[in-house]
Amino acid sequence: MDKILVLDFGGQYNQLIARRVRSNSVYAEIKPYNKISCSEIKSAGYKGIIFTGGPNSVYDKKSPHYSPEILGLGIPILGICYGHQLLSYLAGGEIAPAQSGSEYGKTRLFVRNNALFKDVPGVSNCFMSHTDYVKTLPEGFIGIAETENCPSAAICNEAKKLYGVQFHPEVTHTEYGEQILKNFIFDICKCCPDWQMDDFIEKSVEKYRNELKGKRVLLALSGGVDSSVAAVLLHKAIGENLVCVFVDHGLLRKDEGDYVENTIGKKLGVNLIRVNAKDRFLARLAGVKQPEDKRHIIGEEFIRTFEAEARKLGKIDVLAQGTIYPDVIESGKGDSAVIKSHHNVGGLPDVMSFESIVEPLRDLFKDEVREVGLKLGIPKELVFRQPFPGPGLGVRVIGEITEEKLKLLKEADAVFRNEIDRLDFNKRPNQYFAVITDTKSVGVMGDARTYGYTVVLRAIDTDDFMTADWSRLPYELFETASSRITNEIKGITRVVYDITSKPPATVEWE
Ligand code: XMP
Repeated sequence: MDKILVLDFGGQYNQLIARRVRSNSVYAEIKPYNKISCSEIKSAGYKGIIFTGGPNSVYDKKSPHYSPEILGLGIPILGICYGHQLLSYLAGGEIAPAQSGSEYGKTRLFVRNNALFKDVPGVSNCFMSHTDYVKTLPEGFIGIAETENCPSAAICNEAKKLYGVQFHPEVTHTEYGEQILKNFIFDICKCCPDWQMDDFIEKSVEKYRNELKGKRVLLALSGGVDSSVAAVLLHKAIGENLVCVFVDHGLLRKDEGDYVENTIGKKLGVNLIRVNAKDRFLARLAGVKQPEDKRHIIGEEFIRTFEAEARKLGKIDVLAQGTIYPDVIESGKGDSAVIKSHHNVGGLPDVMSFESIVEPLRDLFKDEVREVGLKLGIPKELVFRQPFPGPGLGVRVIGEITEEKLKLLKEADAVFRNEIDRLDFNKRPNQYFAVITDTKSVGVMGDARTYGYTVVLRAIDTDDFMTADWSRLPYELFETASSRITNEIKGITRVVYDITSKPPATVEWE
């Protein structure tokens, strides 16, 4: 299989670059610049290399660099933004701060006739974000595009198949970015488009059928997209030898436990054991008010419950996990502060011993996992479900988790989701749910005074969940949701909408 290396210098669009390559049916792998050597690159057989952007200037002492040897491997290279400057620098060019200052945003791009710009018009828009520029081209290079403020918007050494672009072809603001990447992948690197999800399924099934022959495999099914797809894929390979344990901690959304059991277990035929552990979890959580304490208890209790169930199963050889590619790749960026301990429920039980671990989805991006899920016959509503935190509704019941608050929350959340699910799929927020506060307030119903909980509705639009904006939903939707919640659910007197972005707030309330 042909593959492209995305050499990561810490830019913010690196995953996007790899996904763009993959959407052309060519496999792309991201590696941090300091985790792969020239000889490893050579022996891995990449057909092309893309140097990513990055926040630095090549002359900064701490800026990420690479050995110039890479330019002589005979593998085509495309440098993007910082990658373009680094490529030029390594080839002997001179980089300097742009005289006209930073260039940022949509910019007119003028290109000349070149393999990289096949089917790209002479004038189009591109997305620029830079302060430095390539002042003097390295020997053997020619300029092939410019903008008003940047004479070296694209350069190349055709004989050596080395290309650099100051702009970002991977973002949609660059009108012909997709075409430019296609030209690089197919015309310059001569890749064959042989990365397809049908092939992926077929090859994985064959691989695991051989590798796991006669072995018993255990998987912790959460009901989320990743573990469900991993389960169905492995079931196709090894059938009954895969055992899935689904711990229902009672903190799932309304009817969710039954839905997972029916869909994955009954409809798709996966060997699934559902453990109804609500009482056990609620007993441990009684009186606990602090969010991080709740997370810790839920995570730990999950492992204990899972272990106890696994022990009943006798000898298990292999543990399977739904790890996906973004969990695996290490970005070139530094460490960031921990705001919440997002330890996923379903972490590896450390006292259990397995011969090995299999992670059938570790090469896939989320959208590829979804494509595989659909091809495996998993229903659309499960494949495209919104993210749900491991500690579940435990972090959406503010303060102590009581049976009463949990029940009210499940009902209110179901109403809100039900109203949003009436919107067209592409108009729905990326995540939407209800939160029950610890605050009670007075209401009136008929002629009587009521006193009940306040529920918060939260809906956000986001690309990556690192930052998010609150969703501008139609007023009519709020009206219906609010009156349904207060009329249909006894015990809730007030409904409010959260209009805080992230930052400064987080998505979840706890
Ligand atoms: P925050 O609240 O950190 O949420 O802005 C960002 C995304 O992460 C999810 N989230 C969690 N996921 N375990 C998880 O698996 C957790 O403890 C957890 N806390 C938040 C949240 O739902 C959102 O999608």
